[in-house]
Amino acid sequence: MLEVPEKVLVTEAAIAEKVRELGARITRDYAGRSPVLIGVLKGSFVFLADLVRAIDLPVTVEFLGVQSYGDATESSGVVRITLDLARPVAGRDVLIVEDIIDTGLTCRYLFEQIEARGPSSLKMCALLHKPARTRVPVQIDYLGFTIPDEFVVGYGLDAAQKYRNLKDLRVLES
Ligand code: IMP
Repeated sequence: MLEVPEKVLVTEAAIAEKVRELGARITRDYAGRSPVLIGVLKGSFVFLADLVRAIDLPVTVEFLGVQSYGDATESSGVVRITLDLARPVAGRDVLIVEDIIDTGLTCRYLFEQIEARGPSSLKMCALLHKPARTRVPVQIDYLGFTIPDEFVVGYGLDAAQKYRNLKDLRVLES
């Protein structure tokens, strides 16, 4: 059995409602276009799976693997690509889908990397943002929830690779 942290920060129902809202906004904003959603692995895989089903457009999906933490809960500040995109995104409307913006370093790095590949537009969607810890300016075009400076797990987010399968977002007490 998986031992689950007790404190729920965002319930399954609240996440589902927010994903519906974000999907509806993206559907409106990209009407007549077919954006490519880039899921940033691994943390965004659950969010992305729900988000694409809330979007009523001919979207395509790609994945990009990055690692910035190792197995620690503090960002090392060094981001590296562990899995590159399988297809070019030049001339496409690209929406990056992130689980959480913490220091903002991963987000900034991804923006630079994707921008250099010549998309026709580039926007960022993140489920969570921890503004208290953000060190570099980031533009989040579609945001789920602003959260306090706590380490959260569940709904795709992990601590040392665990807890990704929780249905809600919980606080990992240290
Ligand atoms: P950043 O580069 O510091 O913004 O970190 C972004 C990445 O760190 C996210 O995509 C997550 O994988 C991870 N991360 C940051 N905060 C948390 C958290 O509270 N729980 C789980 N992962 C986190």
